[in-house]
Amino acid sequence: MNNHRIGSRADDEALDQVGEMNSRRLIATPALVCDLAMLLANIEAMANNARRAGVTLRPHVKSHKSAYIAKRQLDAGAVGLSFAKLGEAEIIVERLTADNDQAISVLLTSPLVGRHRAERAASLAAHCDLIVAVDHPDGVDELEAAAIAFDTTLSVLCDVDVGLGRTGVVGAYEALAVAERVAVATQLHFKGVQGYGGHLQHIAGREHRRAATIESTSHLRLVIDALESAGFNLPIRSGGGTGTLLLDVEIGVLNELQPGSYVFMDSEYRDALGDDPEGRFAQSLTLVTTVISANHDDYVTVDAGLKAMATDAGPPVVVGHEGASTYRFFGDEQGMVTNPSQHSFRRGERLELVPPHCDPTVDRYDVIWLVHDDIIVDVIDVTARGRSQ
Ligand SMILES: Cc1ncc(COP(=O)(O)O)c(C=O)c1O
Repeated sequence: MNNHRIGSRADDEALDQVGEMNSRRLIATPALVCDLAMLLANIEAMANNARRAGVTLRPHVKSHKSAYIAKRQLDAGAVGLSFAKLGEAEIIVERLTADNDQAISVLLTSPLVGRHRAERAASLAAHCDLIVAVDHPDGVDELEAAAIAFDTTLSVLCDVDVGLGRTGVVGAYEALAVAERVAVATQLHFKGVQGYGGHLQHIAGREHRRAATIESTSHLRLVIDALESAGFNLPIRSGGGTGTLLLDVEIGVLNELQPGSYVFMDSEYRDALGDDPEGRFAQSLTLVTTVISANHDDYVTVDAGLKAMATDAGPPVVVGHEGASTYRFFGDEQGMVTNPSQHSFRRGERLELVPPHCDPTVDRYDVIWLVHDDIIVDVIDVTARGRSQ
């Protein structure tokens, strides 16, 4: 893969916004801005973590939805990519393979339901090495029928519920039912298990997080033991996120990690991880907003409101004024930012916010501006924006 411009919009209308000049101060707000050096350092640091630990890395694309970032993760040594949705995988695979014949290894981490989706998966398998997480024997049957119809083969991981309760078989008996169904399928290969502990990722305090991760992983281990005793090989044991990464390595059951948020590090993660080793990634992504009204002594109004970011994890942090100034949602299109005691924000002034939850915030934007200090270096598209189907 040598196409440096994958996912980059530097040639089209987005950069025309700034014309000949390339100062970040000219970007129309609200907008997502990412410090390129920090982003690349995060990608490299995670790749090094995996290399040192002797596990493979399959970063989750749901966090950034960007072909440009996915390519850099692969270039840094990732074994493949993880996706939550078929639609995300379809567009990113298309983009990454446009100028390259090399097949990418793709894992769909969320179960698919129904003939139509199974057939889309079978069709996607013509363009990549596809692995699908399945948590019910009927899901196996649907994939097998589609693979036969499309004359292709697919790999399957049994998705195991490790305590989150969202998807996954609940225990060993159910995992065996999935694996046995794959074993009799002619077009499917059983490749192992997935166990993602989403409920563990934001537990504050490393010891609490470690204890909870050990407990949930022991459930996964029981399922693995049962499958191995029944004669199944499990070359892939995938799971983990940014918050549990080094704990997963320490526990040693997973051999493939699928973190996503580390590329940006949002404030929800920063609050939970603090100075823990899992938190040693830079906050590369900020949301730039402009003061549109400054008619009160104690606060100003900015142009980023409820539509500008995900709101599930509380308000964003005001960069450079942490503790001295706070943000409050002020309607669909506006936010209220209190003035720090020693300084009043001016009309037209730009402020940067750290998004509370990066994944659903990124999905609200067409592009991310890549910057170095004040300079715009590039603008990349959020390639899989809105591709939730
Ligand atoms: C199945 C799965 N794997 C991995 C991740 C990545 O986790 P994180 O963003 O916490 O690193 C997610 C995120 O929601 C996920 O749903």
